[in-house]
Amino acid sequence: MTNQLIETYLKKLKTSGIERHIPNISVENAEFIKGIIRDKNPKRMLEIGTANGYSGIHFSSILSEWSILTTIEYAWNAHIEAVEHFKECKIKNIISIWGDAKMVIPTLSDNYFDVVYIDAMKREYLDYLLLSLPKMTKDAIIIIDDVIKFRDKMTNLYEFLDRNGIEYNICSTDPDDGIMIINFSDIWKTQFLQDR
Ligand SMILES: C[S@@+](CC[C@H](N)C(=O)[O-])C[C@H]1O[C@@H](n2cnc3c(N)ncnc32)[C@H](O)[C@@H]1O
Repeated sequence: MTNQLIETYLKKLKTSGIERHIPNISVENAEFIKGIIRDKNPKRMLEIGTANGYSGIHFSSILSEWSILTTIEYAWNAHIEAVEHFKECKIKNIISIWGDAKMVIPTLSDNYFDVVYIDAMKREYLDYLLLSLPKMTKDAIIIIDDVIKFRDKMTNLYEFLDRNGIEYNICSTDPDDGIMIINFSDIWKTQFLQDR
C-alpha cells in the first residue's frame, strides 16, 4: 500500500476505534514515536499491547523494510482483528503474537530489541519492563505510554525507577497524556542490572 493509502486506512481505523472505545494511541503520540523510530532506525521493535493494530500500522509504516515489529496481544478478538488489518494493509514486517505478554516476553530472543513500546495493562508496566530488559540491546530505547493520566496505576514503576536512580523523561506530547522515555544504558549503568 502507498503511504497515502495507509494514512487513509489509519484515519478510518482511528474513527472506528473511537466509536468502539478502543484505547488506541493518540495521533500526536504515534507521530512522536515515529520520529524516534525515524532517528533510531531500529532493526527490531517490540510492542506490548497490539489492540486492533492501529499503533502497529503506524510504526511498521516508518520502519525500514528490513526491520521487524513484534507485537503482543492477549485478547483473541483484538489479535485476530489486528492480523486482518495488517493483511489488508499488505504489511509484511510485523510478527503478531497472541498471548499474555508476561508469558510471551520470556520466550523472545535475548539482546534483540532496539525499541520497546509498552502500552498494555497499566498495573503490569513494571512486570513488562523487568521481563523485557534481557531482551533489549545495550542501546535500546524504552517508550512507555499513558504515564501521566494513569500514574496511580503504575506507582510501582515510578518507585522502581526512583529507588534505582534510573533517569527518565516524560514528554507531554498530546493534550491528554504523556510518554516516558528511558534509555536502556541508563538502567545498565545503575546498580540494579550490575547486581544481577
Ligand atoms: C491501550 S491498548 C493498546 C493500544 C494499541 N497499542 C494502539 O495504540 O493501537 C492495550 C491492549 O493491551 C492488551 N493487554 C492488556 N494486558 C495484556 C497482557 N498482559 N498481555 C498482552 N496484551 C495485554 C489489551 O487487551 C489491549 O488490547
